[in-house]
Amino acid sequence: MLILGLETSCDETGVALYDTERGLLADALFSQVDIHVEYGGVVPELASRDHIRKTLPLVEEVLARAGCAGADIDGVAYTAGPGLVGALMVGATLARALAWGWGVPALGVHHMEGHLLAPMLEADPPEFPFVALLVSGGHTQLVRVDAIGEYRILGESLDDAAGEAFDKAAKMLGLPYPGGPHIARLAQRGHAGRFTFPRPMVNRPGLDFSFSGLKTYTLNTVAECGESGALSEQDKCDIALAFEEAVVATLVIKCRRALREEQLKTLVIAGGVSANLSLRRQLDEALAKEGGRVFYPAPRFCTDNGAMIAYAGARRLQAGQRDDAATRVRPRWPMEELSPLAPAGG
Ligand code: KG4
Ligand code: ZN
Repeated sequence: MLILGLETSCDETGVALYDTERGLLADALFSQVDIHVEYGGVVPELASRDHIRKTLPLVEEVLARAGCAGADIDGVAYTAGPGLVGALMVGATLARALAWGWGVPALGVHHMEGHLLAPMLEADPPEFPFVALLVSGGHTQLVRVDAIGEYRILGESLDDAAGEAFDKAAKMLGLPYPGGPHIARLAQRGHAGRFTFPRPMVNRPGLDFSFSGLKTYTLNTVAECGESGALSEQDKCDIALAFEEAVVATLVIKCRRALREEQLKTLVIAGGVSANLSLRRQLDEALAKEGGRVFYPAPRFCTDNGAMIAYAGARRLQAGQRDDAATRVRPRWPMEELSPLAPAGG
């Protein structure tokens, strides 16, 4: 089954072709970062307008690269939520129009399920059940995953998402949006031990997260360092490292706690922040000591992309799921509302 996947939930237009027999055939991505950078964050209306410009050319590009034609496609998957409503509408409308024209089914996919299943695109995918840490710009969640569509939220952020915290800390240091990769780069040149930031909520039981205190602590540190003039490059690197260490330490502690409570050994990390090398390294080390293992997507499939939507859609379309006649997008969409995979034809 050859599935076209479209991702347009935020500021990346992602398109991919996934074949259930042959795997990922082609994928293409256009990032709108340059459009939004001068505003310090994503401007929804500009995002929607650019998805309109980019989606169809990217569809043509992936078809050409895979040597396929529209007539070869067996189904179209698109991100139906959560995300920016206008941006979601663009992908939903185009996906459903293409599917209608080709006479094949369309299916709206949950963006976080896409992230969650992205490690399945790798040569050595994880096996169910596992605990997933979903860390993106909009979400920080620990989820018990028993199968596709069988999700139980174990914990989540009570305020900012981890990626959002990275973005805000970056802004305080005068770094461009999205800030995660910039913080990570500065942190590499930071001196360990100059600052120690608090590890939020690690001394409290449970699996929820909170990053707002860390944000305030970062702001205060930036203000103190800047009292005698502008921050030096080294100040910025040291603060970036202390911030990254605090976020990573918190995530590692909560992941280990979740695995212990669920009596599982397999962890999956996905979403933009899972591209963070320090997080990957520290989780690798911590789990290896306990006989566990962490799986993550290739770096380009950690952040938003079309391949994860094509994959998640393919699994569900293959099981017989499809949209009805109404076009619906869900800017807010709790993951626990997703249905398990129905048997083929069901
Ligand atoms: O999954 P994603 O592309 O979009 C959402 O669904 O939100 O995640 C984007 C987030 C941004 O907040 C960005 O700063 C963060 O992922 N991010 C990182 C890294 N790369 C991206 N955060 C920390 N370290 C990174 N290397
Ligand atoms: Zn995302």
